[in-house]
Amino acid sequence: MAQFHELPALRVAVLGAGTVGTEVLRLIDEQGEDLAHRVGARLEVTGVAVRDLSRDRRPNVPAELLTADASALVRQADLVIEVMGGIEPARSLLLEAMSHGASVVTANKALLAQDGAALYEAADTHGVDLYFEAAVAGAIPLVRPVRESLAGDRIQRVLGIVNGTTNYILDAMTRSGAGFDDALATAQELGYAEADPTADVQGHDAAAKASILASLAFHTRVRLSDVHCEGITEVTAQDIAAATRMDRSIKLLSIIERVPGEAEERISARVYPALIPNTHPLASVSEAYNAVFIEAEAAGSLMFYGQGAGGAPTASAILGDVVSAGRHRVSGGVGPRESRYAALDAIPLDELRNAFYISLTVQDRPGVLAEIAGTLSGYGISISTIHQELVESEESDTERPPQQAHIGITTHRALESAMTASLDVFSSTSTVLSIDSVLRLEGE
Ligand code: NAP
Ligand code: HSE
Repeated sequence: MAQFHELPALRVAVLGAGTVGTEVLRLIDEQGEDLAHRVGARLEVTGVAVRDLSRDRRPNVPAELLTADASALVRQADLVIEVMGGIEPARSLLLEAMSHGASVVTANKALLAQDGAALYEAADTHGVDLYFEAAVAGAIPLVRPVRESLAGDRIQRVLGIVNGTTNYILDAMTRSGAGFDDALATAQELGYAEADPTADVQGHDAAAKASILASLAFHTRVRLSDVHCEGITEVTAQDIAAATRMDRSIKLLSIIERVPGEAEERISARVYPALIPNTHPLASVSEAYNAVFIEAEAAGSLMFYGQGAGGAPTASAILGDVVSAGRHRVSGGVGPRESRYAALDAIPLDELRNAFYISLTVQDRPGVLAEIAGTLSGYGISISTIHQELVESEESDTERPPQQAHIGITTHRALESAMTASLDVFSSTSTVLSIDSVLRLEGE
């Protein structure tokens, strides 16, 4: 067996030395010898591209390797690890790297969801690898199982919690009764949520991951614009209390599935907060953890669980990809290419059938429930349960406004378009004072 110093070297360019990049560099430094034997070549970091050369860095980010000239760095690399994030300049740098013969490992879900096609095509044209295990659910092996281990099976449905920040917030709201803003502030204090948590709380991060998973699972190019996306900013403490009363939990779910039809099979990719029964395995996923539930025709149900974010967990997934890509540089061959032969169409949300929970504030007088039930049944929506609570008035008796009630209704599965039409009626009738929430029921 060759000694460490006898092994050939692979030139590794690292783009970014933030939360993830710093941990990638630490692992390459601390485990260099083991990694070299696994790859069959030494991983020689030739440079680390950052924005700000003057910033203090951790000791495992050697100052002499820092550069602001990422373009020059990637042109001289065998392998590029992209952990800078964002669309540009990451996109141009990866295309440039591949055009100069480098294989690429990236954690950049936003870029893959927006322009994965260009990256795949460049990898194909230049005969290099494109790996991205860390882009979906951090440390959890998910891309490789979907892309390779289940390549011989037929994935029917994936239901996942793939955003740690929002899971932390919803879990904190459930455990403490806190409102959304307070739970978000705590998540930021603890370092779970970023200073700008928009992509997380509005569901864009989970939607990007859904688009990546759907593309792999259904052998179809699923763009970010094909993913219906709703975030958690509208989830209230009242919704959480209602969920608890119904023995359910609210989770931000990424759902991708095949939808059979008379003429053709289509696919759906969507992200929204949903009520799931507390008996469902995803209900017990707490704090910032991720979990993904896959249903495949032959394999049956599979569950993946672990840390979906954080420097070290994400670096673990990246190093796994680095070893795979490195082995190909040494022994030849390339990893899996894009598989999009199925080219399935996406079904519009309106045509899907879902079960709903709606919460309304209404006038508390005779006939109101009948009117609401009549509207729903007029659109073919069947009620499953109704819960009513009188709204306590804070006014003195003499100034008391007309009595109001909160009504929580769950429905059987109905067309999304039918629910939209019913809500339109509710928003224009005087008996319904406000539509407080509309959530789907999943995981039945
Ligand atoms: P981060 O902490 O913000 O670090 C970004 C790094 O990239 C910084 O070192 C920054 O330089 C550098 N950088 C940014 N723009 C640059 C530019 N134009 N030119 C040169 N360098 C640039 O980000 P992160 O949390 O490590 O995330 C990196 C990637 O991993 C993102 O795509 C993210 O979505 C993905 N990811 C992150 C996690 C996680 O838990 N953090 C999990 C999974 C995937 P300076 O240091 O000089 O500012
Ligand atoms: N912001 C993401 C999360 C990081 O909270 O899950 C991992 O992709």
